[in-house]
Amino acid sequence: MKLDSQSRVLVLTGAGVSAESGVPTFRGMNGLWEGHRVEEVASPEGFAADPLLVWRFYSLRREGAAKVAPNAGHVALAELEARLGERFLLATQNVDGLHARAGSRRMLAIHGELFQSRCERCNVPFADAQTYFAAPLPRCETCGGAIRPHIVWFGEMLDPAHLQRVEAFIEEAGKRLVFIAVGTSGMVYPAAGLVDAARSVGGQTWLVDAAPSAEYSARFDRVLTGKSGEILPGLFSESAPSP
Ligand code: APR
Repeated sequence: MKLDSQSRVLVLTGAGVSAESGVPTFRGMNGLWEGHRVEEVASPEGFAADPLLVWRFYSLRREGAAKVAPNAGHVALAELEARLGERFLLATQNVDGLHARAGSRRMLAIHGELFQSRCERCNVPFADAQTYFAAPLPRCETCGGAIRPHIVWFGEMLDPAHLQRVEAFIEEAGKRLVFIAVGTSGMVYPAAGLVDAARSVGGQTWLVDAAPSAEYSARFDRVLTGKSGEILPGLFSESAPSP
C-alpha cells in the first residue's frame, strides 16, 4: 500500500486482529458461551436478569486477556501511528486492551474496555481488573448502584464522542482517506457502516481478513485474505504493492 505525505489512515479492527494472540473471536464461538447465547451475557437485559452470570463471563475474559500478549498485527498498527501522527486514527471494536499494550494511542475503544467498570447509575468508568465468580457482586461506593463492565452491550449506543471523532476524521480526510478494516466480519453497526462513509468521501477502502465474507468484501476496493499478524507488518512498507 502506497501512502504519501497527504494520506490519512483510519483503521477499524475487530476480533480477528487479536485471534493470533489467542483471544477467541465472537462468531468463532458460534455466538455461544457455555450454552448461553452471547446476547444473554452481553446485554443490559441479561445483566438485569442474572448479573452473576454476566460477571462470570467477563471475569473469564479478563483472566484470558491478562494472559495474552499483542501480536505482530497490533505492533504494525502502533508503528504506523508513530509514522503518521495525527494523520492516523484507530477505532477498535475489541475490548481486550491489546492495541494500547502494543503502543497505540490515537485509538478509540468504541465497544468499551474489558479492564474498566462503571456504576450503572453514575456511569463514570474506572480501571478495574477484578474478577467475580461468586456473590457478593460489587456496588458503587457513592450511590449503591450495581457495578457493571464498561462494555457497549447489544442494544446499547456507542459513545457519541467516539462516533463524532471518527466522522470528523473521515470528513476532514476526504479523498486523502485510506480506510482499512482488519479482522472484522462487518455484521455489527455502526462500525460496519464506516466503509460506506469512507467511500462516500472518495477514500480508498481495504479489507484485511482471514476469511472475509462475500457481502462485506463487496463494499471494499481491495480485499487481502490472510492473517492480520502476517499481512499488516508488510502492508505499510514503501515497497508493498499499491492498489
Ligand atoms: N487475521 C485476520 N482476520 C481474522 C483472523 C486473523 N488471524 N482470525 C479471524 N479473522 C476474522 C474472521 O474471518 C472474521 O471475519 O476476524 C473476523 C472476526 O469477526 P467477529 O468474530 O464477528 O468479530 P467482530 O467483527 O469484531 O465482531 C464485532 O460484535 O459481538 C460483537 O461487540 C462485539 O465487537 C464485537 C462485534
